[in-house]
Amino acid sequence: MADADRATPFGVYVHWPFCLSKCPYCDFNSHVRQAAIDQPRYVAAFTAEIAATAARIPGRTVSTIFFGGGTPSLMAPATVGAVLDAIARHWTVAPDAEITLEANPSSVEATRFRGYRAAGVNRVSLGVQSLDDAVLRQLGRLHTAREALDAVAVARAMFERYSFDLIYARPGQTLTAWRNELAAALAQAGEHLSLYQLTIEPETPFAALHATGKLVLPDDDLGRDLYDATLEQCATAGLPAYEVSNHARPGAECRHNLVYWRAGEYAGIGPGAHGRIEVDGVRRATATEKRPEAWLMRVETAGHGVTVDDALSRDEQADELLLMGLRLAEGIDPARYAALAGRRLDTGRIAALAGHGFVETTADGRLRVTRSGFPVLDAVVADLAA
Ligand SMILES: C[S@@+](CC[C@H](N)C(=O)[O-])C[C@H]1O[C@@H](n2cnc3c(N)ncnc32)[C@H](O)[C@@H]1O
Ligand code: SF4
Repeated sequence: MADADRATPFGVYVHWPFCLSKCPYCDFNSHVRQAAIDQPRYVAAFTAEIAATAARIPGRTVSTIFFGGGTPSLMAPATVGAVLDAIARHWTVAPDAEITLEANPSSVEATRFRGYRAAGVNRVSLGVQSLDDAVLRQLGRLHTAREALDAVAVARAMFERYSFDLIYARPGQTLTAWRNELAAALAQAGEHLSLYQLTIEPETPFAALHATGKLVLPDDDLGRDLYDATLEQCATAGLPAYEVSNHARPGAECRHNLVYWRAGEYAGIGPGAHGRIEVDGVRRATATEKRPEAWLMRVETAGHGVTVDDALSRDEQADELLLMGLRLAEGIDPARYAALAGRRLDTGRIAALAGHGFVETTADGRLRVTRSGFPVLDAVVADLAA
């Protein structure tokens, strides 16, 4: 695609890899450091990596920027501003670009919201996780429910758009308790909510507790009931699911995450960031060094921290389209799959999955996973990709 023709969205992901403490369920690339982080040094490295990436994919118009972590709300507003300036020096940032920052909802972090807004951030995503203090302690969180709701109120006053995350299907959680907690959350929600079922990630403290039977998750039936209740309650409140775990007022979806799910183009900046970029007509998967200090040194010597830079075959791209696109309520365009894979999806498999009620074809010919299919999404994707 010629650069001048590029009307499609392009996103920039920036990873801040530090947290004040490590939550026992989390396996994101996040690290706790005793010493203060040298933020100007990170600004210089982010700037260098942005320049190096822009040299490979010049002329893009940035439609979304996402500061993820880790805990990006530990970044000084000046650090966020400097990264945004660097992005604007090397690419064109669309006037209506969505610029999101992930924040932990403590009172200290809320005091930085005004500075983020002045720097150009126009959307925050808060990790509230639960509205129950006992659960927050169990999840190793450093904030209370009150503090989290206060941070949500500051976000509501300060930004055009905000979202928050909750984790459900937690040990001991009943359907009634979740319904009540979700109702309280919906009363505070704006246009968007992310609701994740607790996942046991390998090599986390929760994985060890789970393995020894000290942490017991809801069984499959209860998990299904919790998921159904979530879909129903959010839809009734005007925030239908547009992705497996994401709910929004139509039109208020997270545009950055849509770039991933629609298999669009995005650059990954910072330690452990992933990207999908198109260089000389070839789609490439990139990833950077994960360890923050090693990433810094690499950028300072080589000008970038990229450790993976693989051309994706058309089959790999077709598989990614299924894997990402079928997470969305809108599903995928089978013609796009066929153009990538060089063959159509197997009609027999689609018919069998549709017979079980797991997928359906819409009036305009898109293939999507149904409500009963979402709980078995991985199996559906594996079947279609086989
Ligand atoms: C990058 S993380 C966290 C952002 C921010 N540091 C925070 O904790 O508030 C994004 C979200 O993933 C979710 N998450 C992380 N680990 C999870 C797990 N094991 N199971 C379910 N959700 C998880 C949490 O809801 C979290 O807010
Ligand atoms: S959940 Fe958020 S605060 Fe907790 S360790 Fe992971 S990234 Fe850090």
